[in-house]
Order: sequence, then C-alpha cells, then structure tokens
Amino acid sequence: MSLLSLSNISVAFGGDTVLEAITCEANHGERIGLVGRNGTGKTTLLRVLAGNERLGGGKRHVARGLRFALVEQVPPLVDGARTVRQEVLSPLQDVLDLPDALQAAADGIAAGDEDASEVYAALLQRMDSEGAYSIESRFAEVMSGLGLAEADWDRPLRELSGGQRARTGLARALMPARTCFCWTNRPTTSTSMACAGSRHFLPVGAAASS
Ligand SMILES: Nc1ncnc2c1ncn2[C@@H]1O[C@H](COP(=O)(O)OP(=O)(O)OP(=O)(O)O)[C@@H](O)[C@H]1O
Ligand SMILES: [Mg+2]
Repeated sequence: MSLLSLSNISVAFGGDTVLEAITCEANHGERIGLVGRNGTGKTTLLRVLAGNERLGGGKRHVARGLRFALVEQVPPLVDGARTVRQEVLSPLQDVLDLPDALQAAADGIAAGDEDASEVYAALLQRMDSEGAYSIESRFAEVMSGLGLAEADWDRPLRELSGGQRARTGLARALMPARTCFCWTNRPTTSTSMACAGSRHFLPVGAAASS
C-alpha cells in the first residue's frame, strides 16, 4: 500500500474544472517533481495532496499517522518580531507546555490532590511519546541540517533574507517528531538543496513552473 494516493480526483472552482481524473501515488523515500505552465493547477494539486482542498470527485488515501507540511517558497511574514526559534518551535507549543503542566501536577500531589497522580502519570507518558525530552537537540539538528547558523536562531524574522525565511519555514515543517511528507511550492535551488541534504525528509514533493 502506498503512503499517499489519489484516485480519479477532480477539482473545480465555480464552473471551471482545474484538475480532472488525476490518479497518482507516492511511496516512501520518493522525491517527486511537478512541473507545468502557470495556472495549470500545480498549487491546487499540492493542496489536494496535503488535504487542504475540497474534492469535486475521486478519493485521496493517506497512510495512518502520516503528517503533511506544505511549505511556500517564502512563507508569509505574519509577525516579524517573532524570533526564528519561536517560529520553528511554534507547532510544538503544547509539547513545550508539558513541563509546566507536570510541575502543576506534582504540586497537586504534594498538596494531597487525589487525582493529581493519575494526571502526572499521563503527562509523563506524553512527555515521552511526543519527544519532549529531545526537543532542544532535535531543534539544533534540524537547524544545522538546513544550514541555519546558530547566530541567527534568536534573530527576529523581519531581519532575515528571503532564503533564510524559506529555510525557517522548512525547519518549522520538520520539527514535529512524526513522519513528514513535505511539499515545497516553487522551490528555489537553496530550498531544494536543503531538502536533499536533510535526513529528516522522507518523501519530498516539489512544484515549479516551467
Ligand atoms: N481558490 C480558488 N478559487 C478560484 N480559482 C482558483 C482558486 N485557486 C486556483 N484557482 C484557479 O485554478 C487555476 C490553477 O491555479 P493554480 O494556482 O493551481 O496554478 P499553478 O499551476 O500553481 O500556477 P503558477 O505556476 O502560477 O503557480 C488557475 O486558473 C487559478 O486561477
Ligand atoms: Mg502555483
């Protein structure tokens, strides 16, 4: 069974059919390029693959536990004051909050709260399963793997070049611990090289205009 497959899918906007009878699949370790003229539906297809587009017909099948990330060439700057570190770690905020919750549960146990031990045990298990203990080392590994220098990790996003912001977007997509199927829209040489050089990528899809 493939990791991801589309079977006879179609997408239309208003009355205009953009994708019709598309069938394809992607498997572990594949690197796929998608090339076509402007306006022919590459971004729409990437959105379908990532599960972000409503289908007019057909079926999308995804292996269980697979996580998708769709990375724009230069991610939009939503908050320029945010640091690179904050941006890259933002999908993991609930995991970063676990130690505080654990401490609150420990305080509850000390105060004689009867339910606190159960909460504490559940939180400990989550810390383990969601990789809370290794976030810092994983962060350093992903950043170095993508060529983002340590001197830039605490700089605000607004000070970064387009290429550095693109790499920051990739790092953000790669930080969550589960399997990642990452699609980069309009990849540049530098993001493609970063993908190729990162051992965190499994299959990689890319769309570019001809
Ligand atoms: N949300 C939408 N609503 C209406 N039409 C849309 C929408 N998204 C895309 N389209 C139309 O669908 C067609 C395909 O667009 P899409 O962005 O997928 O093309 P593309 O191949 O990625 O183009 P480019 O090379 O310029 O990035 C275009 O005609 C576009 O105007
Ligand atoms: Mg496009």
